[in-house]
Amino acid sequence: MTAVSVPVRLEDYRAPAFTIDTVSLDFRLTPEATRIKARMAFRPNTAEAASGRLELAGDETKLVAIALDGVPLDAGRYVATPDRLVIEGVPSRPFTLDIETEVDPSANTKLMGLYRSSGNYCTQCEAEGFRRITYFLDRPDVLAVYTTRIEAEKTEAPVLLANGNPAEAGDIPGTGRHYAVWHDPFPKPSYLFAMVAGDLGVVTDRFVTMSGRDVELRIYCEHGKEARCAYAMDALKRSMRWDETAFGREYDLDIFIVVAVSDFNMGAMENKGLNVFNDKYVLADPDTATDADYAGIETVIAHEYFHNWTGNRITCRDWFQLCLKEGLTVFRDQEFSSDERSRAVKRIADVRTLQARQFPEDGGPLAHPVRPEIYHEINNFYTPTVYEKGAEVVRMLKTILGEDGFRRGMDLYFERHDGEAATVEDFLAAFADATGADLSQFKLWYAQSGTPEITARGQFDPAAKRFTLTLAQTLGPTPGQPIKRPMHIPIRFGLVGPNGEAIEAERVSGATVTGDVIQLTAPSHTVVFEGVGARPVPSLLRGFSAPVKLSTDLSAEDLLFLVRTDSDPFNRWQAAQTLAMRTLVEGTAAIRAGRRPAVETALIDALGVVAEDATLEPAFRAQVLTLPSEGDIAREIGRDVDPEAVAAARSALRAAIAGRLGERLAALHAGLADAAPFRPDAAGAGRRALRNVLLDLGVAGGTPEAVARARAHFEAADNMTDRIAALATLCAAALPERLAPLAAFRKRYAGDALALDKWFTLEATVPASDTLARVEALLADPAFSIGNPNRVRALVGSFAAANPTQFNRADGAGFDFLADFVRRLDARNPQTAARLLVSFRSWRSLEPVRRAHAEAALAGIAAAPGLSPDTRDIVTRTLA
Ligand code: PHE
Ligand code: ZN
Repeated sequence: MTAVSVPVRLEDYRAPAFTIDTVSLDFRLTPEATRIKARMAFRPNTAEAASGRLELAGDETKLVAIALDGVPLDAGRYVATPDRLVIEGVPSRPFTLDIETEVDPSANTKLMGLYRSSGNYCTQCEAEGFRRITYFLDRPDVLAVYTTRIEAEKTEAPVLLANGNPAEAGDIPGTGRHYAVWHDPFPKPSYLFAMVAGDLGVVTDRFVTMSGRDVELRIYCEHGKEARCAYAMDALKRSMRWDETAFGREYDLDIFIVVAVSDFNMGAMENKGLNVFNDKYVLADPDTATDADYAGIETVIAHEYFHNWTGNRITCRDWFQLCLKEGLTVFRDQEFSSDERSRAVKRIADVRTLQARQFPEDGGPLAHPVRPEIYHEINNFYTPTVYEKGAEVVRMLKTILGEDGFRRGMDLYFERHDGEAATVEDFLAAFADATGADLSQFKLWYAQSGTPEITARGQFDPAAKRFTLTLAQTLGPTPGQPIKRPMHIPIRFGLVGPNGEAIEAERVSGATVTGDVIQLTAPSHTVVFEGVGARPVPSLLRGFSAPVKLSTDLSAEDLLFLVRTDSDPFNRWQAAQTLAMRTLVEGTAAIRAGRRPAVETALIDALGVVAEDATLEPAFRAQVLTLPSEGDIAREIGRDVDPEAVAAARSALRAAIAGRLGERLAALHAGLADAAPFRPDAAGAGRRALRNVLLDLGVAGGTPEAVARARAHFEAADNMTDRIAALATLCAAALPERLAPLAAFRKRYAGDALALDKWFTLEATVPASDTLARVEALLADPAFSIGNPNRVRALVGSFAAANPTQFNRADGAGFDFLADFVRRLDARNPQTAARLLVSFRSWRSLEPVRRAHAEAALAGIAAAPGLSPDTRDIVTRTLA
């Protein structure tokens, strides 16, 4: 391992000197010494090939044999180390390289390359895992056609799978072994390679594509869990249809396979024709999965399926272009879920996620552009910025170009780049060429990090019938980017008249306005609306048309007016959140000053009206009644944050709501009782969401009746959504009444890993001073396993990311605990360790005592010897 790591830079990109047209792989699987023979057809690709030097990447790779054009290579011709293979004097014409390697899948705790999960064999190659299987040009711009042969013990691995279509299979007589051959006709980069072998259950179905091709669908899972695959299969078929109607994209192989595994670093992986999933995003039934789990499955199944076009058919030239597949595919899965469920509610949920995960990243030491220009460890760039902000950038493109222009741009992109490894420039050029739009300023969204801040000031002149709106944008410094340029920011808007009606101005000047979108391009615009007869309330950033922070001069009365009347449901929700946030920030300040927070009766009454408004979707009402989280409030405060004061202010507001609306909320709760059996559809989920939010608000009032209601709700629950909601309410209030239900829950689900993960999360998120000790004790629980990423995230990840008062304990013990655990995990699974460490990202905004503790904990990690590049990278940037 080198002491100083050399960063990779976008500006250094060079096309590969050689490329590979075909790859034949032959896996001889055994648990501890799998042999892989790779035959690769090389071809010179640039003038640099003339040097005769071929360098292939490895990572703990072990060479067994090597031959060039069938002739074993003399030892003097090459140097093989665990992380590279260098051959001198290769011909400047096409040639074949045969490489045999050996891998120990059982010892592979990093879960990258070939590893075992529950006794099965599987692979994970994105981003740079293929090189752990064989030496290779392991970069996304080398596209080859793969043929994969797998051979294994028949009893150990009756199922043998790889990318593409099945070609051949059979027994190897007299050995107890068998084999299968798969062929994938679509050229792909090595990160999309996959192989799975083991003893698995399967569910099958079929799908007829728009041109009438019959596709076999299979979902593999642990034996006995087949029935839990039904929802994923349904989501898959809906995704396949949607991509045809919404984007004109048809599936291309004869078979599409999903495999659910229980040990996986991420959510899922889009390997061509053979998606490998964290089983959390496949398995569901009413007794073990919540509505949120069902929604997550729908989203992730769609996401991975959509990658077949945005990611696989068109892939990335290099890893700096990651958003080209990820941001675009997140946008596509968001649109799919919006079409399948409620668009407004989906948008609110997505914006909540963006603000909770991406905004703190953009505002802290780990900020980076949607398309980074430098990295030390690519695994650390699978971030909310690349994914979620990347999706927002695509959404803005659609807002700016309109539905039709956007579709024409997408069509041209598919037409031009199918089968290629593309760049962000290629993507934008397709839209510019299809529509004639100038996207040069828009492109800054890919290059500038940080969240733009917009201020809006309105002024109404009744005599002149003129409304003047001054909009200004600023973008503060972020790591490596002290000075910023103004961006092209689409602000969707409406002017709301005194009776809630839309006001159309006769004339608008001062900015380009396209339909209901103000195109903000300069540092500031004074937009003048003429012919406005009555004072309007501007409703700005409708649908969250850009990922920015907006501050307006709207009064509390104006915001309450928007809560009641805005025709844009997103902004109705936003207005309520803005008002609540103002109250919560003031309340936090009051508590720190030793005062009691003021009670905002107008806000509470407005919430009561929304809660009872039967014309509104229950899921929407639930969103309005959900206050900004402690994390949201801390981010809004931004500096010198005391998480205890934040939590106290939030509890105080919730108690005030319960105090003032208690009876009404209880009545509403009772009236929502669900007689129908559980169905995971959007309508049922929305009803349960509202009911459970009401239950939770009730408990915030602290009355014995409310607590009893929560306990009864737990006992009576006939589905996981209600069961977990009741329990989470008791846990979040740190009530002693949580203990018996927690124990019952654990007992009931002792044999069910995914459900048990929920129990670990509940235990870890209780906001009580003994929770840290409890979490430490649970590390020694027989059910805890440091080798299983889901379990690690459920216990340690939730403690660090979802228990703000206890992770940020004033004595620093929460920080020390995470630092110790990360160091321990880093030795086994660096990727997952580095991700846990990201919980420190907002440490600088804490009050001085906590800040000093956090810094010391981080410094302790930084000083530790033998850190992985993953963890080294995060700790270095977090402290910088
Ligand atoms: N590409 C995967 C996705 O769909 C994520 C992933 C990245 C999975 C790296 C594994 C490893 O978003
Ligand atoms: Zn993805």
